Formats: sequence, C-alpha cells, structure tokens
Amino acid sequence: MSGLSCEHIISVSDMSTEDIGMVLDTAESFKEVNERTIKKLPTLRGRTIINLFLEPSTRTRTSFEIAAKRLSADAVNMTGSASATVKGESLRDTAKTLSAMSCDLIVVRHRCAGAADYLAECMDAHVINGGDGMHEHPTQALLDLFTMRRALGRLEGLTVGIVGDIAHSRVAGSLVRALRLVGARPVVIAPPTLLPARPDVLGAEVSYTLDDVLPDLDVAYMLRVQMERAEGMPFPSLREYARFYGMNGARLASARPEMVVMHPGPMNRGVEISADVADSDRSIILDQVNAGVAVRMAAMYLLLGGVDSDAAA
Ligand code: NCD
Repeated sequence: MSGLSCEHIISVSDMSTEDIGMVLDTAESFKEVNERTIKKLPTLRGRTIINLFLEPSTRTRTSFEIAAKRLSADAVNMTGSASATVKGESLRDTAKTLSAMSCDLIVVRHRCAGAADYLAECMDAHVINGGDGMHEHPTQALLDLFTMRRALGRLEGLTVGIVGDIAHSRVAGSLVRALRLVGARPVVIAPPTLLPARPDVLGAEVSYTLDDVLPDLDVAYMLRVQMERAEGMPFPSLREYARFYGMNGARLASARPEMVVMHPGPMNRGVEISADVADSDRSIILDQVNAGVAVRMAAMYLLLGGVDSDAAA
C-alpha cells in the first residue's frame, strides 16, 4: 500500500492536503541524507524505475535519476531520441513494453497534456508526471512548496506572485493548485496576452501590473518566457517584457525586505530576471534545485509503499 492516498502523481488535484504534507515532511528526512558524505539508502533496492523523457530536459531528468539512485533503485533513462517512439511506436505500445519488463515506477515527460494519465491507464506501474505539455508538473510544485516552507517558515497565508507566461506554463498550473491546497494565496501576474482566455478558472487572483502587487508579495515566482510554446511573441519586445514584468534590482528594493525570488529554471537572464537578482541572497533558486532531489526521493518512496515515519532510517 502506498503511503499516499493516490497511486500516481499525475496532477496536484489528485493529491490531498495530507498527501502534500506527507511528501514535504518525508523530503525533510531525505534532505538530511543528501547532506551526508554517503548519500545513499537501501530503501528501494531491487525496484526498477524508468525515466521516460520524450521532451528535452536536463535538470528534471537528472534530478529524478539522482533521486532514484540515492534510494538504491535500478534507474534506467529512456530519452526521446533513444526510444522507439521516434520509430513510430505509440505511447500505448511503449507502456506495454515497459510493463512486460516489470518496472515498478515510470517517470514520464511528454509534450502532450494527458500523456502521463494515459500511461497510468495502460500499465500497472506507478506513474509520476515529470511534465506533460502545458498541463501539469506536480513535482516542481511540491519542491517549490518545500523551498518556500524552509525559507519562510510556513505556507499558510503566504502571498505568492507567479509572474509571466501563465498561459503556456505547466509549472504555474500545478503551483496554483498546490498553493491553494496548503492555504496560501496565489496571484498570477501577466499581460493579458500571456494569460489564458478565462484566467478566473485558474483559482488565483489576477493582476496585469507587477508593480501594483509587488508590495504584498512574500514570494515572487518568475516564470521562463516559453518561446518554444508561444506562437510568435505575445508582447512587443523582450526589452519591454523585462521592463514591466522582469524582476530587477530596483523592484527588489521596493518589495518587502523578506520577499524571496524563485524560478523553476532554466532562466532567461535579463528577461524575466536580471542577473544580479538571480545571484543575490534574496534568490532561492538553487535551493529549489537542491529540494528537487529530496522531494522526488520522497515521492518515489511514498508511492512505492513507504510511510513517512521511517523514511531515512
Ligand atoms: C520547467 C518545465 O520544463 O516545465 N522546467 C523544469 O522543469 N526544469 C519550466 C520551464 O521549462 O520553463
């Protein structure tokens, strides 16, 4: 039996507030393991985890791979160019093939929304969604919550401004849902061209002007401008975008002194975030990367049957 109420981690909406709390608390134990000289536990020895990454990714794939290895699972990477999908195999056939090899957990990244859900339907293994099109990226949201909680000491009541390409961002979708589950207040901040047609259904407050809401924010979460997903540029120029929606030294100076700056990576320095802010002590971007490994270890461990009380024993 899984330690979580869900069998897969596909969407944050499948998780309860308790599930999220369990992942974050378990990740605390694994973070401590990651600081040891010998960063390895025998917990998932003999279990097979496949990282099926059918969309370019370095940081997320590496993070999942390190997480699986630190728990002693046998981790196998299948990337887009190496997999049979380039030879025309359907996702269903890939799922059946991987099932026949008796793998226990699949982490999947795919350019189509719904791919992780589809994979979970076709096979017995547990599935973690490593990002499906513009839909969800749940482990990113979980590691973001973990990082915020560590930096600010709580999640409940925090005002989190998510700034930028809300319309194309799976990170924003997952994060808004996760923040609501833990009692925080998400505010999406973007020009109308970077918001979905019905921003009200996101479940977040909406603002078109960063400077108006900046003084309220505990966290400024800067999104990457997703050139590859936008058709043409949805704003006049990158310079103009940076001027109105970028986090820079002047904006940081006018925000609350305790406000922290986050970014899921990869960053476009000089566009959504200036280089000096990215490298400043108000930026907790590398803490997010660090948290990624611990949170993914927790997700794998809990899905494969662990309970949080004996995580890092
Ligand atoms: C995000 C993604 O791929 O959705 N990045 C990541 O997981 N490291 C965000 C992005 O690409 O902007």
